[in-house]
Amino acid sequence: MKVAIIGQGYVGLTISSFASEFFEVIGFDKSQRIVDQLNAGISHIEGVESATLKKWIGRGSFRATSREANISDADVVVIAVPTPLTDDRKPDLTFIDAACKTVGENVTKPVLVINESTSFPGTLRNYIKPAIEKYSKNKIEHLYAISPERVDPGRSDFNQKNTPRLYSGLTLEASEKTRAFYSRFCDKLIEVSTPEVAEAAKLFENTFRQVNIALVNEFAQIANALGISVYETLDAANTKPYGFMKFIPSAGVGGHCIPVDPTYLAAIAEENGAPATFIRRANEVNLEMSEYIVRRVFEDNGGNLQGKSVLVVGVAYKPNVADVRETAAELVIEHLRCRGAVVSWHDDVVGNWKGESSAPLQGADIAVVVTKHDGVDEKKILASAPYVFDTTGKVKGAKSL
Ligand SMILES: NC(=O)c1ccc[n+]([C@@H]2O[C@H](COP(=O)([O-])OP(=O)(O)OC[C@H]3O[C@@H](n4cnc5c(N)ncnc54)[C@H](O)[C@@H]3O)[C@@H](O)[C@H]2O)c1
Repeated sequence: MKVAIIGQGYVGLTISSFASEFFEVIGFDKSQRIVDQLNAGISHIEGVESATLKKWIGRGSFRATSREANISDADVVVIAVPTPLTDDRKPDLTFIDAACKTVGENVTKPVLVINESTSFPGTLRNYIKPAIEKYSKNKIEHLYAISPERVDPGRSDFNQKNTPRLYSGLTLEASEKTRAFYSRFCDKLIEVSTPEVAEAAKLFENTFRQVNIALVNEFAQIANALGISVYETLDAANTKPYGFMKFIPSAGVGGHCIPVDPTYLAAIAEENGAPATFIRRANEVNLEMSEYIVRRVFEDNGGNLQGKSVLVVGVAYKPNVADVRETAAELVIEHLRCRGAVVSWHDDVVGNWKGESSAPLQGADIAVVVTKHDGVDEKKILASAPYVFDTTGKVKGAKSL
């Protein structure tokens, strides 16, 4: 069976790697650079080893392509393209639309189309199916299903195999074929009654994280105002064996999911006349954390950051990955610069970002730790500046939330 996977990023390449063990996989990406790199056996995604990729290429079960026509003889097409927000923070389905165009214009026989991209309930039924039909020259009855992706890049304890997967087809046949496809490389499949439930569940999972992170971020500010340790308080609350789940305060949320998915949910809720005030406010609280942190640093440093050299340590949105999408570091740097600080950043995992390179971990007046990668030495962070503010709770001896 041939499987075409549209989009070879975090989600698409991860799926490609698992599926290549059992199927012939065509990894389609519009980026020629990514395609060339993949065909050379070089993975750009944490969690997908280049050696594994080389193994599949050598066996003939994986190849990447940017030629749309190469997906024409696929039996299953998986869509794994970005679903970002527009500049005015509304759901942006332009990548989904482009993927539908590729499928519609190139797939000439009935196939199973599975969407793995995150979007609001109704996307499969009201958007993807009509769009593919619109772009198809001939009327072809494809099967359509959703199976939202739950991968957490950089994580080793849960992967495609042992993370339970939700799925639902628009028809019974689509559901059955989707189950047959994933059951080759996923241990636990859970069918839900409609694609909309699967789409909503994915959004709610990430909204649950977003609001709990916002709550703990607000609590960090309350704890500081009361003169108590937020970390000790959270550890104390966490001794309750039920009804409590520990979240850790931070400089904010980043990545492609937590800052974005809840806004997809809020947008569709409001479009249908249901208020999403709690979700909207949680987003604001998380965005405001960067300003709060910089205010704390400003106050600790005599109310003056003018001309001071500030090193932001860790600009990736989370530890041990190079992903800087929606990183909280960006807002922290912006607020520091607004107060006149001369800002550089250190993150050798990221290397280059926004035309700047990672600076040495030394010689600053002030260091602000936004993300602590495992490979970065705590002592070196503490020695990098006479004043170190840690937003991660991992640098003992620094000023902290
Ligand atoms: N990254 C995660 O941890 C994660 C987890 C679960 C779900 N998701 C969801 O999965 C989807 C994909 O996210 P991602 O992180 O893999 O994105 P990504 O940016 O890492 O990768 C997307 C890839 O798609 C390619 N692409 C864009 N438009 C294309 C097109 N029309 N045709 C072919 N290729 C195209 C890009 O070049 C890129 O390589 C999103 O909806 C996201 O919300 C992501």
